[in-house]
Amino acid sequence: MQASVSALRAATKRVSRPHTRAFSSTLPAFQAEPLQKPILNKEFKIYRWNPDEPSKKPTLQSYTIDLNQCGPMILDALIKIKNDIDPTLTFRRSCREGICGSCAMNINGQNTLACLCRIDRNSSKDTKVYPLPHMYIVKDLVPDLTQFYQQYKSIEPYLQNDNPPEKGEFIQSQEDRRKLDGLYECILCACCSTSCPSYWWNQDEYLGPATLMQAYRWIIDSRDAKGAQRKEKLQNEMSMYRCHTIFNCARTCPKGLNPARAIAEIKLQLAAD
Ligand code: SF4
Ligand code: SF4
Ligand code: FES
Repeated sequence: MQASVSALRAATKRVSRPHTRAFSSTLPAFQAEPLQKPILNKEFKIYRWNPDEPSKKPTLQSYTIDLNQCGPMILDALIKIKNDIDPTLTFRRSCREGICGSCAMNINGQNTLACLCRIDRNSSKDTKVYPLPHMYIVKDLVPDLTQFYQQYKSIEPYLQNDNPPEKGEFIQSQEDRRKLDGLYECILCACCSTSCPSYWWNQDEYLGPATLMQAYRWIIDSRDAKGAQRKEKLQNEMSMYRCHTIFNCARTCPKGLNPARAIAEIKLQLAAD
């Protein structure tokens, strides 16, 4: 057996070396010319507003780029426009992979993340990009999220328990941990809240789906001891009961979460208390 393996190795050497030389010597003849992709121009109409020119009304500015010189996502197109055509175009972005939530905007009528939204390659149709709706605008595609974050802060989104374990960490069963699935993944992009008609009209008092889903996330966390107080804060006419279960929030969430269901669960718990 040993002898036959050695014989095989020797034969392989004898065959492969001259073959490799012959192949590499003919390689240049087979080298293909780099493919020149045809130009595929697409028009993007983008909301512009500059706080330094407050008397000027917001406009939709048109930009045309070659999709074959651009990445596949809307965020790629915005970056290309900013880099190659108009450095004044302003938008937020960071992770470019649906984690930071900062590139939320309204694309062809839908609130979503620009980095997760593919460019429609039909070049006969333009793509319209607006900031998240019904928000004050800082500049161009950047909404002012100050109030959104204040609302999030108001639900005290952190573990509260006056009796921490003497040593080590809070222990949670696998079953209790699973209850947080579909809630903890929220990236606070605000796509849901800014798609909610109740939030549009009552933003000062109604907390909106993103914040309410996080309130529920802490109410049902088995390690947290302030569930009763958390629910008490929502027991009023405006903070939560402005939700009319329209489900815009669940339809638009780019992470596939369902804030409307979380709100319905809080309502059930309050009714049962
Ligand atoms: S629930 Fe979805 S849409 Fe709403 S803030 Fe969280 S990730 Fe964004
Ligand atoms: S289900 Fe409630 S929170 Fe969601 S969009 Fe409708 S009213 Fe807003
Ligand atoms: S850039 Fe972070 S979610 Fe889009």
